[in-house]
Amino acid sequence: METVLSGIRSTGNLHLGNYFGAIRNFVKMQHEHNCYFFIADYHSLTTHPTPGDLHRNVRQVLVEYLAAGIDPETATLYIQSDVPEVAELYLLLNMNAYKGELERCTSFKEKVRKQPDNVNAGLLTYPVLMAADIIIHRATKVPVGKDQEQHLEMARTFANRFNRMYKTDYFPSPYAFNFEQALIKIPGLDGSTKMGKSESEGNAIFLADDARVIRKKVMRATTDSGPEKPGEKMSQPVKNLFSLMKAVSSKETVDHFQEEFKNATIRYGDLKKQLAEDIISFTSPLREKILEIGADNEYLSKVAKMGAEKARESAGKTIRDVREIIGFRKF
Ligand code: TRP
Repeated sequence: METVLSGIRSTGNLHLGNYFGAIRNFVKMQHEHNCYFFIADYHSLTTHPTPGDLHRNVRQVLVEYLAAGIDPETATLYIQSDVPEVAELYLLLNMNAYKGELERCTSFKEKVRKQPDNVNAGLLTYPVLMAADIIIHRATKVPVGKDQEQHLEMARTFANRFNRMYKTDYFPSPYAFNFEQALIKIPGLDGSTKMGKSESEGNAIFLADDARVIRKKVMRATTDSGPEKPGEKMSQPVKNLFSLMKAVSSKETVDHFQEEFKNATIRYGDLKKQLAEDIISFTSPLREKILEIGADNEYLSKVAKMGAEKARESAGKTIRDVREIIGFRKF
């Protein structure tokens, strides 16, 4: 069985785009592979969150992943900072990570451009920490988006470099896990082709949004002035609404509105009303679970403890082996 690992950013609530993207696949995958999912709270320190925000964010992400169906008994779900072995491996890998290659990393260059007054060493070595996250469990498959491919390539470089340096084959090379067609791309409500938390206000529908908020966001979604005659081409914002509808509504509903568009009889207000109700039916069980799990401190602490134990067992073994390989030996 393959070991799969994914790091989850500890900021931002889950939206429909996340759900139809990675999360649904994580939920499925946990039964097919040896899965590790962790909340990347060490990484989040590069932006200096307050202690209160840090804790609240990690807690909310944990709650929402559990609500979305990650089973903490089946997968190993843990919080990165509960596994100090990761920090030790990061330190060791840093000795063979070079300033030049770290500075050439696209995500680093972007940060330097966006936040020139906070270019800290944690940002520079972000890919080293990410490599430590992955190889600490000797994972071979990492489900990541396009934006993380370079980081994954660097993880391979660091793993291979360690092996070469110590003449071992201890670390396997991690590769991207490709969901292929399984990913449904969810567009935004503001006419942009991607739902995302950093896009404009009202672009994303969060799993925790209540019915009133969902109706308001959908009714305000960008459209156009409507087809004037049958057979007109569809604009991107309207295509987006249909894509969303395909994800949450019945085929009959989609066909009905597509037919109306073709005939130029469509009223976007009607389409939006229907879309909002179908989104609400889809997300309300998730929202209820979020509220239920979010109110259960005892359960959350049990889950975090169990995850930390399982993760530390695997990470501890790796660190013992690595110390031996490097030459830290007991007297
Ligand atoms: N860098 C990833 C992101 O921004 C999060 C992450 C941290 C990660 N460590 C990881 C992803 C290890 C996969 C494997 O989304």
